[in-house]
Amino acid sequence: MLNRIRQAVGLLSGEQKRRRRAADDWKARHPEATYGHYFAERMVSVIARDAAQKTIGRKISDHSARMGERIAAEFIDLGIERGDVVVDYGCGTLRVGRHLIDYLDAGRFVGLDLDTQIVAAAEALLGADQRAKRPLLEAIGPDVLKRVGDMAPGWVVCNAVVNHLAPVDYDAFFDAVTQLTGAPGARLVIRTRYRDPGRRREALNWDVGPRDLEAAAARHGLTMSLPGGYPRRMRWGVALFASV
Ligand SMILES: C[S@@+](CC[C@H](N)C(=O)[O-])C[C@H]1O[C@@H](n2cnc3c(N)ncnc32)[C@H](O)[C@@H]1O
Repeated sequence: MLNRIRQAVGLLSGEQKRRRRAADDWKARHPEATYGHYFAERMVSVIARDAAQKTIGRKISDHSARMGERIAAEFIDLGIERGDVVVDYGCGTLRVGRHLIDYLDAGRFVGLDLDTQIVAAAEALLGADQRAKRPLLEAIGPDVLKRVGDMAPGWVVCNAVVNHLAPVDYDAFFDAVTQLTGAPGARLVIRTRYRDPGRRREALNWDVGPRDLEAAAARHGLTMSLPGGYPRRMRWGVALFASV
């Protein structure tokens, strides 16, 4: 309760200030990386300790697992066909991606994340039926982006990733992701927490300002549409991006 009141008036607790300082110090030491890379480092530690976390690892709650299924259905309802190549960008341990694998034809799903340990943990959590679908799971790097881009994905879907990036990270994000969206008619789908104007919530959590995201996308030749417009209050939503 106290934390909610603090959040509403923008006050940080001592612990929140410490976490924010730690994140900002890390970013200052790694100017080429995004805050998302720092988030990924922490997820690697969650996996190594087999700890409980909201979206990553073996110990997500039943509610979070059900949300994964709902989010996959939301993506499919946008028009994904079984034969499309779909990239789950920032796939984590496939809370959402496993349902896309179930839906898609064999060999059509690609899961990408920042660290080999996240990708290995994701693979280990798949069932036999899902492995039989031959999903391609890889850690993001220049060669992988090139190789997956050559598969001409029809869709790149991205859930709960951009809210771990600061606005200064958006260009680095679009630099990478637009290497995957070159095929005619390809769509990028970003599901995140939107609020206009954007704001930092916690050390590694932002309510994403749609105008900032739209401007960064435009610098990379993408147009954005956000059904329902720019929300004044925080809401989870899906924005669609396409090449100009
Ligand atoms: C909150 S988890 C969400 C995982 C999954 N999409 C889901 O909904 O369950 C965020 C994931 O995004 C990854 N990530 C963060 N920044 C990224 C970036 N710049 N590029 C790709 N992945 C990123 C993290 O490693 C982490 O696995």
